[in-house]
Amino acid sequence: MNEIALNVNGIDHIIKIDGEDRLIDVLREGLKLTGTKEGCGEGECGACTVIMDGVTVNSCMVMAFQADGKEIITIEGLGTDEEIDPIQQAFLEEGAVQCGFCIPGMVLSAKVVLDNNPSPSREEIRESISGNLCRCTGYNKIVDAIERAGKLLRGESL
Ligand code: FES
Ligand code: FES
Repeated sequence: MNEIALNVNGIDHIIKIDGEDRLIDVLREGLKLTGTKEGCGEGECGACTVIMDGVTVNSCMVMAFQADGKEIITIEGLGTDEEIDPIQQAFLEEGAVQCGFCIPGMVLSAKVVLDNNPSPSREEIRESISGNLCRCTGYNKIVDAIERAGKLLRGESL
């Protein structure tokens, strides 16, 4: 048993880990942040996407010890109780959510692309979510939602 120190959604934590624990285990079981989903567990589906030091990672493929000293953002870190994040708002307004299993990862991938490029093209948006599989939506509504989120964040009229 070892300890890691990491910051999750702005809060510092020191967590005991076993050698085989993955970051997703720390988040879901250690911190009860169950918005991060486990689909394939093999780095294929992107359902477990979180942001680690500003880039998206598949948290099923990151060993817990590799997250030591890192800043992590999960879906619970977006928005507040009073106001949802503009990206989440755009997904709702575009009707981009069906079963919802892929959506936390999609939203976090969208956040990273919009943080780095406020006006991505549809092609760039598609590229940014290329590691996030969705069985339900056919992706067009999700791309529409990320375009809409960009407009919301830029303060443009819709
Ligand atoms: S659960 Fe991690 S990539 Fe599928
Ligand atoms: S909304 Fe169901 S997997 Fe994407």
